[in-house]
Formats: sequence, C-alpha cells, structure tokens
Amino acid sequence: MVLSAEDRALVRALWKKLGSNVGVYTTEALERCSEAGRPPSTSRGPSSPGSPDAPHARSSRRTFLAFPATKTYFSHLDLSPGSAQVRAHGQKVADALSLAVERLDDLPRALSALSHLHARQLRVDPASFQLLGHCLLVTLARHYPGDFSPALQASLDKFLSHVISALASEHQ
Ligand code: HEM
Repeated sequence: MVLSAEDRALVRALWKKLGSNVGVYTTEALERCSEAGRPPSTSRGPSSPGSPDAPHARSSRRTFLAFPATKTYFSHLDLSPGSAQVRAHGQKVADALSLAVERLDDLPRALSALSHLHARQLRVDPASFQLLGHCLLVTLARHYPGDFSPALQASLDKFLSHVISALASEHQ
C-alpha cells in the first residue's frame, strides 16, 4: 500500500490544521483506547470541530471506551480523566506522529528507535498499535467531520498503517 502524492498532501494538510492540538487528540485517542469500560457520557455538548479549547475540555472529562486491555501497559501512570501524565504521554505520541508526517519518505528509519523501545523494552503487543490508530482515526473524524472526506479517511488510514508497520518492524 503506497502513500501517493495525494495521500501525502491530504495528511500534511490535516496535520497543519491540527497545529498545536495534535497532542490533545492523541491524548483523547489514548484515553478512548485505554480506560476501562465505563459507559459513554451523554452529557457532552455537540462537537465543535477545530475549536482548540473544546477537545481538550472534552478529553479531560471523557468517559472512556474501547479497548481496556491496552491499559495494562500504563499501570504505572495515573489514568484518571484529565490526568497530566496521560496528557504528557499523549504529547510524546503526538510528537512521534508529527515526526512521521515530516518524514513520510523515511518512516522506518524515523521510527526505528521507537520500534525497538516498544518491542524489546516495553514488549507491547503489536496488535495494540492498530487499536490506537483506530482510536485516533475515530477521534479526528469526530472533531473534524467537515474535513473528513472519504479521500482523507483513506489517506489517513494508509498513513497510520505505515506508522504501525514501521513501529512493529522490530517485532518481526
Ligand atoms: C501510533 C502508535 C504509537 C506511537 C507513535 C507511540 C509513541 C510512543 C512514544 C514517543 C513514547 C515515549 C518514548 C520515550 O519516552 O522515549 C512511547 C512510550 C510508550 N508507549 Fe507508545 N506509541 C504508540 C503506541 C503504543 C501502544 C498501542 C501502546 C500500548 C498499548 C504503547 C505503550 C507505550 C508505553 C507503555 C510507553 C512508556 C510510557 C512511560 O512509561 O512513560 N504505545 N510511545
């Protein structure tokens, strides 16, 4: 699956739009993935795409959903809603993804140290990379519904697949 020039342009344009909020969205994606199954809150207001404050506020009080097993890797962190530790971790993941966007031609090399860390030290099950990628896609689609054309969805999905494959390379 090759990232075409159009895929690259769409991903880069989205990243530009996310600006300094990439960490907010990766944090929300992590929280979505990793918190045990409390039911989703019904008290949230409507989505306001692109508003810098809204996602942050929402991610702090989000009740989390999807894949509780991933939480086991973070048992040493405070995983409560709005946790500063989860936010700090989300920012690290965001910085790695932003580096990947900058180095689309060279992803395996750009992410090789991280791949080593996740495989050899952290011993993360590579299947969980897909879960976080999925959560990030859902998170971004929720916050940017107007931008999320089928073409952007496909390009972002391809980009995340490339990131995941680079991250998982040391597992093989
Ligand atoms: C898109 C996928 C991912 C990216 C880009 C990513 C990136 C990162 C980065 C940049 C760090 C910090 C490394 C450092 O401090 O030197 C990190 C740490 C870590 N990652 Fe990932 N990660 C991803 C997916 C996952 C998944 C799915 C899990 C487990 C479910 C995971 C578990 C961890 C753990 C446990 C740490 C160490 C946290 C700590 O002790 O502070 N990562 N990751």
